[in-house]
Parts: sequence; structure tokens; C-alpha cells
Amino acid sequence: MKRTHRILCVDDEDFNLDLLEALLRPHGYETLTALNGREALAVLAEKPVDLVLLDINMPVMNGHEVCKKIKSDPQLAHIPVIMITSLDSKENKMKGMEAGAEEFLSKPFDQAELLLRIGNILRSADYENAFDYLILALARAAEANDIDTGNHILRVGEYAALLARELGQSEKFVEQIRTQATLHDVGKVHIPSQILKKPGRLTEEEMDEMRQHTSFGAMIIGDHPHLEFGRRIALCHHERWDGTGYPKGLKGEEIPLEARIVSICDCYDALRNSRVYKPNYDHDGALGIITKGDDRMKPEHFDPQVLAAFLKLAPVFDELYIRMKDGEKT
Ligand SMILES: [Fe+2]
Repeated sequence: MKRTHRILCVDDEDFNLDLLEALLRPHGYETLTALNGREALAVLAEKPVDLVLLDINMPVMNGHEVCKKIKSDPQLAHIPVIMITSLDSKENKMKGMEAGAEEFLSKPFDQAELLLRIGNILRSADYENAFDYLILALARAAEANDIDTGNHILRVGEYAALLARELGQSEKFVEQIRTQATLHDVGKVHIPSQILKKPGRLTEEEMDEMRQHTSFGAMIIGDHPHLEFGRRIALCHHERWDGTGYPKGLKGEEIPLEARIVSICDCYDALRNSRVYKPNYDHDGALGIITKGDDRMKPEHFDPQVLAAFLKLAPVFDELYIRMKDGEKT
């Protein structure tokens, strides 16, 4: 059965909202309305929405600001936004694009065109959602063999998105790293569970076998262009900035940025998360090991720029860890 899509219409004029509702409802869409930006954000915090139709000129908070807020909120960023404006200037469109809007229509809009664009956007958003869902399902399947890793993969995705944004990467980069970082350990599906679950340190032979999870991961993900991020992350997330990592011993910027980001996120979360072979640390303990090092981890393992961004955001990492602790919903 086809799912009913829910569209949030935001406009400061009742008349325009009535018009949009009268147009959308007969086509099977469920509609919600808001008279200004603040109201729109309140609705989005309460109810799942599939698409936002956004007026630009509004009191309280204008359309550009609302769009920016939506696109910078990890919980909302995936929702497509169509900006509807009577201001057909290039500058307005540029501002809207900067804010992350997917489409633009100028008032008075052509009804058939609006319906067509809504249909197209929702169709591709549905495919995108299914794609992201399958990535997570694949990452989850690979955990079957492993010790209980709980929300580890989801947290690593969220931390990585935070760092990527702090490092000035595009929203596309941020979204890709958020979803595809979850695949970093997918290659563990090929590693025997007695190694994954072994209490205490691994022997050198067992370590060699364990190290192969990186290459196995890249092999499983393959070479689909939409999964390039995931493949590079799986292959290179144990490489180290100083060249002492595996599988290839890459050094510095030879290591893809997405893998340099995931590396520190994975280490922080592994330190905080209790594992069979080591105790867990609190936030300060984990931070201390990353910045001062211990017998296994050294600050030289991390890209200094990524490390600096991590230190800047460290309190947010702590908050995220607590919010997404195992067994609790995000
Ligand atoms: Fe790994």
C-alpha cells in the first residue's frame, strides 16, 4: 500500500495556506500548516514530516532562517524543502540554495508544476530513505558475530557528521559520512566470533586476522559510486596519521578525510563503550587517552586538524554518548 506523505505548509497568510491545502489534499497528501518559522519548527519537533513548502517573507523568522535550521538539525536535515517566493530575485534563490533548499517556485505558482515537483522530490526522498535504511541493515547484519556493540555504529555516524561539519565540509559530505560511517566494521562478518569475542588481548596471528576486517569491508561494499564513502571508511579507518596503521600503512593526507574523521570517532566510542577485552572510561578518561596516549593509542595517530575539531566539540561528544547510550532510543 502506498504510504501517505505528510507536507508542512508554512506561510504567514491564511489565504495561501488554504490554497495549498485545497490543492494538496485531493491528491492524497496529508497537510500540516504553520503561520511562521517558529511555529514551523515547533511542528517539526512534534511530528514526522516528509516535505516542507516554505514561504520566504514571514515575520518572526524568515524562510531562509527556517531552512537553515532544518538543514543543520541532524533529525530534520533529510526533509526536502521547496521554497515558494514572490521574490523572484537571483539573490533570494542564491540565499535559499545556501540555506540548503532543494527546489524553488515563484508566486503565483503553477499548480500542475508544484504537484509535479512535489511528486518527484518525494519519490527520490523515498529511494534515498530506503538506501540509507539498507546501509544500516547491512551494518547491523555484520554485528551478528560481534560482541554486543549496541548503538556504537549509530554514535560513530553522528560524531563523524559533527566533526565533518566543524571541519567545513559540505552538507552532502556531512550526510554521507553520517550514514556510511556505520559501515566501518562491516568486514567483521568474515572474522571468527571467537576472535571478536575473545576476552583479553589477541595473539599476533589473531591480530593479523582481525586486521583483515578492513579489506573485507571494502570487498563487501564493492565499488558502487554511491557507496564510495563507506568503502574508503571501511578500508582506511584503522590507518594512522603517522603511518603506523593498517592495512596499508598510509600516512597523513594519503588517508581519505572521511576515514581520518571516523578513526577518532571510533576510538573515542570504543574507549567509552565497555568491551569484553577492556574496561570502559568516562568522558575525561577517554579524552585523556586520546590527547596523552597510552600503550596503544597516541595523539600522533590522528590528523591534527581533526583532533583539534574533536577537542573543540568534546563536550558535545559526551552529550551525544549519553543521549545515545546503548539500549536508549535516540
Ligand atoms: Fe574497525
